[in-house]
Amino acid sequence: MRVQVVIIGSGPSGLLLGQLLGNAGIDTVILDRVDRDYILGRIRAGVLESGTVGMLDQAGAGERMHRAGLVHDGFGLSFSGRRHRIDLKALTGKSVMVYGQTEVTQDLMDARAAAGFRTIYNATNVALQDVGGQPFVTYEKDGATHRIDCDFIAGCDGAHGPSRAEALRLGMKGFERVYPFGWLGVLADVPPVDHELIYANHERGFALCSQRSRSRSRYYVQVPLDAKVEDWPDHAFWDELRRRLPRETAEAMITGPAIEKSIAPLRSFVGEPLRYGRLFLVGDAGHIVPPTGAKGLNLAASDVHYLFEGLRDHYLDRSSAALDAYSGRALNRIWRAVRFSWSMTELLHRFPDQGDFGQRIQEAELDYLSASQAAQASVAEQYVGLAY
Ligand code: FAD
Ligand code: PHB
Repeated sequence: MRVQVVIIGSGPSGLLLGQLLGNAGIDTVILDRVDRDYILGRIRAGVLESGTVGMLDQAGAGERMHRAGLVHDGFGLSFSGRRHRIDLKALTGKSVMVYGQTEVTQDLMDARAAAGFRTIYNATNVALQDVGGQPFVTYEKDGATHRIDCDFIAGCDGAHGPSRAEALRLGMKGFERVYPFGWLGVLADVPPVDHELIYANHERGFALCSQRSRSRSRYYVQVPLDAKVEDWPDHAFWDELRRRLPRETAEAMITGPAIEKSIAPLRSFVGEPLRYGRLFLVGDAGHIVPPTGAKGLNLAASDVHYLFEGLRDHYLDRSSAALDAYSGRALNRIWRAVRFSWSMTELLHRFPDQGDFGQRIQEAELDYLSASQAAQASVAEQYVGLAY
């Protein structure tokens, strides 16, 4: 088989890129190691920047999001027993959209199927070959080995896929910070405790009240790195979450059985550069951010924007300028989001070694933030997403 672009990974970045390219008449195939249901079972992001919303519209996959998504004009911060609202709309003129990554992925999968673009699920041993020359990808399926020749490979296969590994083998430099804790997340069919998200800094650790719809909540608590899901029965999770919230919020909380419960470690990673010959890294394959700033999925979307422009100009305008600029343009925005995610993580979590000094610094920063319009405007501008 021969196609113009092989996309490895059927997560949000691969599917969004595939839809934009396909709609522009550029031929793609997407390969994924697992199947559609497995991908749709992964509960991840929930907050979309307006740029991401625009990209889904551009791909022709935004209709259900506009019907079912929840537009949020602000979010809450809770600390020292107080609550403070960051008014995104007043500070930036923009809002965010609360719509789960699962839904985004499903909408893009449906759009892909409706357009008749090809996806190969359950493709094992995916390997990238000759990315500096005439690239091709090999994989195994149903006991046979297959080969797809192509002009370009888009590595959209996340942090543990073969694209990042190939880039590292070819000399990619990694910048990394590993945080000494994780997030224990619970999804439950109970109404959210508030109509907006609440990020809580508490002496027992960080907590986040998020949501997927008016009847489905997503909550997180900071846990030590060695925590195990089995050690967190539902009642222990709800008790711990309530302890980390202001009293009136805790009292208003409606609890119920967890329909999903998982632990995600927190880390920052950036690989440089994001291009190796005819291989481009996109989304989590090239970088990871801790979820505190709600940036991971949104960065995947901005990477796709830059790469789509590059590939479109290459094929339709016979210009390679945007493709050559991909890594630099994407990294410029990535580092700013990495910095924001790091600063939100530092501000809101309890670090094992932070000591009294570190704690006072956090309290002073939260006080400053709640009193200063300028500080709030800076957080709001980054939370709604920097322009691209
Ligand atoms: P992925 O979603 O990881 O997709 C990669 C795909 O590649 C997968 O389908 C995988 O099966 C496939 N693949 C992997 N290995 C292979 C292989 N060997 N061969 C073939 N295919 C392979 N981001 C936000 O913007 N906002 C949030 O609120 C937010 N909250 C989060 C909360 C949690 C708990 C977590 C864990 C993440 C959160 N994120 C958030 C981050 C966000 O989920 C990711 O940044 C996003 O999934 C990246 O998309 P992607 O398509 O690049 O990678
Ligand atoms: C989520 O709803 O999963 C979510 C929301 C905001 C974040 C991280 C995760 O910052």
